[in-house]
Amino acid sequence: MSIFDQTIKRRSTNSVKWDAMEKVYGLHDASDILPMWVADMDFAAPAAVSKALQQHAEQTVFGYSFIGEDAIQSIVDWQNTRHDWHIDKESIVFCNGVVAALANSIVAFTNPGDKVLISSPVYPPFFNIPKSNGREVISCPLVEKDGTYVYDFEAFEQALAQNVKAYILCNPHNPGGYVWDEATLKEIVRLCAKYDVIIISDEIHADLMINGEKHIPLAKIAGDEINRVVTCMAPTKTFNLAGIQVSYMIVTDKKKRLQLEAINMASGQGSLNTFASVALHAAYTEGSAWLDELLTYISANMDYVKAELEQIPGIRVTKPQSTYLIWIDYRELALEEKDLMNRLLEVGKLALEPGTKYGEEGRGFLRMNVACSFETVQDGVKRFKKAFEQ
Ligand SMILES: Cc1ncc(COP(=O)(O)O)c(C=O)c1O
Repeated sequence: MSIFDQTIKRRSTNSVKWDAMEKVYGLHDASDILPMWVADMDFAAPAAVSKALQQHAEQTVFGYSFIGEDAIQSIVDWQNTRHDWHIDKESIVFCNGVVAALANSIVAFTNPGDKVLISSPVYPPFFNIPKSNGREVISCPLVEKDGTYVYDFEAFEQALAQNVKAYILCNPHNPGGYVWDEATLKEIVRLCAKYDVIIISDEIHADLMINGEKHIPLAKIAGDEINRVVTCMAPTKTFNLAGIQVSYMIVTDKKKRLQLEAINMASGQGSLNTFASVALHAAYTEGSAWLDELLTYISANMDYVKAELEQIPGIRVTKPQSTYLIWIDYRELALEEKDLMNRLLEVGKLALEPGTKYGEEGRGFLRMNVACSFETVQDGVKRFKKAFEQ
């Protein structure tokens, strides 16, 4: 029996995943719907993290605090041991989440009206954050090839040449779960350098490598162009701490760090929640074994889902190389997304993410979150099949 087999009651806990479905899916009552949508896990965080947070709570005084040296060192050590990436403490800038880090980077390094490039299908805030900050978003879609996505570098270069100021990279890729190889990352850097474009690399899924895949931080292979890279990372996706809201950027260019710090100060975000640095430190110093076990567990969940769903004619599943999200291809079925979503919700009683949430290129796909107990995954598969029976 694995610790991940345990089912934790999350309904009625103000959980976005479990308690916001009425609002998100426009339902009158979602009490019988199984949520396999938003990217948080149904697993308890590592016991060491809960223990550290409990000990911190016992202090009973929660005044202003700063991020301890031990937490900063734990980031340096984590990057070193997990990604063989040697970073300086000075290059770290903290933030209240990766989406906030993306927003601060866009505000710091581009001006209103500037063009920001993304590669869809991709995580929805890549569209929304630049747009809501008055920037123009251009998408150069990824190209699907044999069940995975690749860059069309000719189209990518043409897009960059339209006076683009920043490129937001999703490394590894959400929703597809692809781990970009070194050649792809090097070409991204080369082309962005050619057109003097800043690269904001969202690497929040970096630690969730399936079947021994290796994450390559873009900045690690950027060579002389490292100063045009801003890397956004966090322990939150890795250790199921999204509600703790902590992230950090790794920024080698001092001028950029000062710009980011100025943005933080301008919006009154000078410091972190006192629990954030405690959770980060505990996760990075004591969470390794938990993470390794998690990855094995998720890999098995993915194998099961792939084997089961591919029994349905017209459904194709490529096992992701990273994350805990499965990108399910139903294009052969020629079903309208709206109809399929209704069928999943009404007949299957299952909430998945519709593919177009990630851009028009996501049409014909669904995203399923398998970071839950095997028993829950089995239930989800049963519900999925039921929706397709009719
Ligand atoms: C690519 C990517 N970036 C950022 C986030 C969210 O980051 P945060 O909760 O730290 O704002 C997610 C969550 O799913 C994600 O997939």
